[in-house]
Amino acid sequence: MIRFERPVTELIRVRRSWRSFVEDPVPADEKDRIQAFISGLDASPFGSRVRFAVVEADRSRGKRPQGTYGVVTGASTFLVGILTPAEKGFEDFGYLFEATVLFITSLGLGTCWMGGTFDRSLFSGMTRLAGGEFVPAISPIGIPSEKRSLVDTAFIMTAGSRRRKTWEDIFFQDAFGNRLEKASAGPYGQSLEMVRLAPSASNKQPWRVVQKDGRFHFYLTRALGYRRFFSQADLQRIDMGIAMFHFAQSAREAGLAGTWEDFDPKISALPPRTEYVISWAT
Ligand SMILES: Cc1cc2nc3c(=O)[nH]c(=O)nc-3n(C[C@H](O)[C@H](O)[C@H](O)COP(=O)(O)O)c2cc1C
Repeated sequence: MIRFERPVTELIRVRRSWRSFVEDPVPADEKDRIQAFISGLDASPFGSRVRFAVVEADRSRGKRPQGTYGVVTGASTFLVGILTPAEKGFEDFGYLFEATVLFITSLGLGTCWMGGTFDRSLFSGMTRLAGGEFVPAISPIGIPSEKRSLVDTAFIMTAGSRRRKTWEDIFFQDAFGNRLEKASAGPYGQSLEMVRLAPSASNKQPWRVVQKDGRFHFYLTRALGYRRFFSQADLQRIDMGIAMFHFAQSAREAGLAGTWEDFDPKISALPPRTEYVISWAT
């Protein structure tokens, strides 16, 4: 089991996307701790091969590192995630990358998931990919700047990054359309709240959960017209993996014994653009 030095619920609440950093490098001992965390990561839930590299981007031409189209300022260290494509590979990728993002958060450092605004071939070149591997996302790692750059602030405003859908928008009892009362989720109320607070590409929040007969069924409701628009990676399935990590890790830290299970309840009348992904059996 993945262990953090602070409760994951706290790390989820404090994490924010950071795109502006002070120019000081990440201290070497913190980089070592990140490397140690990565080496000790659990297997991914669906068994896909995911690995990580910590690289230094060229910042010789000023505050903005090469390869992020001017979106990142100050940082030069990056976490690069590498996936060997597989059936539920993007979910696995989201799961383990988010675990690492939250570990980096626990060190007091800033991160930002980037699945679109980076030069994929440049970062791939820094990591010596084996045949078939590819880089779905990266994140800067750095000391957050007290003052966010204009580009950073613009991103927050356009994505509406502070907003989250409400409990009624995304959590249901037995079928879509029936709201799930917090009390009915029992001890899993906290894990669902951690799903709700998860980061997602363009803050689209595509996850939906239906509680039924002792299981929590996870569905992906794709944002209209979003599919593979920004990236070669399926960012909304990555979002799903992030939500799965928040749910499972907070449940395990709360001492709840549950597991992932492929158990499609075949609920009829799914909302448009909605597909079943996986269930958590309590
Ligand atoms: C899979 C994924 C891909 C993302 N890609 C980018 C990106 O390419 N560039 C960027 O600036 N932010 C990116 N973001 C950050 C989101 O915009 C951000 O998480 C969301 O607006 C919520 O804000 P928060 O992270 O501060 O809670 C991405 C987030 C996720 C989860």
